[in-house]
Amino acid sequence: MTELQIIFQQCWDRLSQASQTPGAAWRTPVLATTGDRGPRQRTVVLRMVDLRAMQLWLHTDVRSAKVQQLIAHPIASLLFYDSVTETQLQVRGQAVIQTTGPQWQQLWNNSPETSLRMYLAPQVPGSPAAAATSNLPDSVASRIPSREELADGLRNFAAVRIQAEQIEWLQLSRGGHRRAAFDIAGEQLQHAAWLEP
Ligand SMILES: Cc1cc2nc3c(=O)[nH]c(=O)nc-3n(C[C@H](O)[C@H](O)[C@H](O)COP(=O)(O)O)c2cc1C
Repeated sequence: MTELQIIFQQCWDRLSQASQTPGAAWRTPVLATTGDRGPRQRTVVLRMVDLRAMQLWLHTDVRSAKVQQLIAHPIASLLFYDSVTETQLQVRGQAVIQTTGPQWQQLWNNSPETSLRMYLAPQVPGSPAAAATSNLPDSVASRIPSREELADGLRNFAAVRIQAEQIEWLQLSRGGHRRAAFDIAGEQLQHAAWLEP
């Protein structure tokens, strides 16, 4: 394997590990989408990585602004940063919203109750509120609901699949920064190249 191929492989291994490791640096990327008035960004949790297909999976509220943005402009960019290794990764790809299907179900089943509670929110997330509010039903506002109680949230639960198409890697180092770009097509690495940092 060339050095570029090794870096590419390591990126995917680290993404996969991060998706299974709360607290990992690459666990909480910034998701950028295209809104009506320009770019929008927000922190999300990387929930699942399909190494074979090179897909990254998130979950979100189907009523959220990002879902509308991704339907209108189905290209997403995820920005990862690890401050310990000073490594930045940008992953750009086609985004698909799913509200049924095996991976959607898998994401629901594998997520802890704590991360599913927000799907019980009665009001559309991001809509104006008369006062500070948790947007949770009173019955679960101060406790974690059971799986049975969470079932109502399924109607608001959306999986976001991002099919990686371009990856850009940057690692800072006193010995000299290094930067590389990777193109993916047909679930395979098509092209790898060094860039000037
Ligand atoms: C650490 C952290 C993790 C988050 N994870 C998610 C997530 O996995 N999914 C999600 O929809 N929102 C998540 N959020 C909330 C989003 O950043 C955002 O506020 C929300 O999804 C509404 O975004 P939108 O109005 O642009 O759609 C997270 C926020 C933080 C601070």
